[in-house]
Amino acid sequence: MLQNDLLLRTLRGEATERVPVWMMRQAGRFLPEYRALREKYSFFERCQTPALAAEITIQPVDIVGVDAAILFSDILVVPQAMGLEVQMVESKGPILPEPIVTTADLARIQVPNVDETLGYVFDAVKLIKEELNGRVPLIGFAGAPWTLLCYMVEGKGSKTFDKAKQFCYTQPELAHTVLQMITDTTIAYLKGQAKAGADVVQIFDSWGGLLSPADFENLSLKYIRQIVAALKDDVLTIVFAKGAFNSLDAMAATGAAGLGIDWCIKPHLARQLAGDNVTLQGNFDPAKLLAPIPVIIEETKAMLKAFGKGRYIANLGHGILPNVPVDHAKAFINTIKEWEG
Ligand code: CP3
Repeated sequence: MLQNDLLLRTLRGEATERVPVWMMRQAGRFLPEYRALREKYSFFERCQTPALAAEITIQPVDIVGVDAAILFSDILVVPQAMGLEVQMVESKGPILPEPIVTTADLARIQVPNVDETLGYVFDAVKLIKEELNGRVPLIGFAGAPWTLLCYMVEGKGSKTFDKAKQFCYTQPELAHTVLQMITDTTIAYLKGQAKAGADVVQIFDSWGGLLSPADFENLSLKYIRQIVAALKDDVLTIVFAKGAFNSLDAMAATGAAGLGIDWCIKPHLARQLAGDNVTLQGNFDPAKLLAPIPVIIEETKAMLKAFGKGRYIANLGHGILPNVPVDHAKAFINTIKEWEG
């Protein structure tokens, strides 16, 4: 039984004593305790060793007191399990040296058996649940098919992902074949995380906002909808499509329990678009955590006031930045925990 189930009750639309809070990308990046482990083990070693993944996952629960843990892993373990090589290059980000370019490349990817290829993630989830011992819920996650396709085609990070877009606009049939393969893998993967003990799963569509509303429906939401529907009886889902607030109504209609939003939309407009039957999560500008602490406190209170108490999870509008001082993150979290509404 969970001692702190604020996040789950908020996602179910139940009333709670206070607003729950966690921070996207809280595991890794900003904590000195994480950076110490980084000296000793490579990125994928950290992901593939359940004891390390568990330690990193639990660090922010112990150190900054968030109301949920998020699994330490990466969205790119899925393309890896599908057969593509992924390198995590220090200060450059991910590189996929042999991206998907033509139909011939389909021979190099498959919908894998997730127990064989991603079993280490399920082992980590089980160990984390054991070590958390009911203190807070555990959030699992995966990348949205569109965001994964961006990396699988572009081969690296990009501001515009124009190669990935060109791929979709010139070879739509191939693009949809790949998107469906990613979707099928992701459904099995997230079901596996739920079975191993994840209480919630979040789908990260970091690049959803690069698409027009029509393309977002065709290349992204169509597949997210399949994932949410497939998980309906297994686990609560949160969909975070950064920059895609034009489609909040359509995202709410997927039946997801929660929708993540970034800081570029006004809270009341997000609520208007999403309707009243979904929990909103967000939307503090991650860079604002670099402001002086009194500014962080004031702006966090303004955010809480704007969203109000019901069906709301406090969070950042995207991942925490690596250079945020720990006491600034604590000021954000404590302001939320102490807020009387
Ligand atoms: O939320 C968490 O703290 C859990 C762990 C997590 C990581 N990546 C660990 C990680 C999660 C949820 C992710 C998701 C992820 N990974 C996304 C979607 C969310 C988003 O921020 O938009 C994306 C696009 C990726 C791909 C990726 N992985 C990039 C672009 C990079 C390099 C830049 C960076 O630091 O984010 C990574 C590497 C990565 N993934 C690190 C961590 C802690 C940093 C590498 C290191 O510490 O050595």
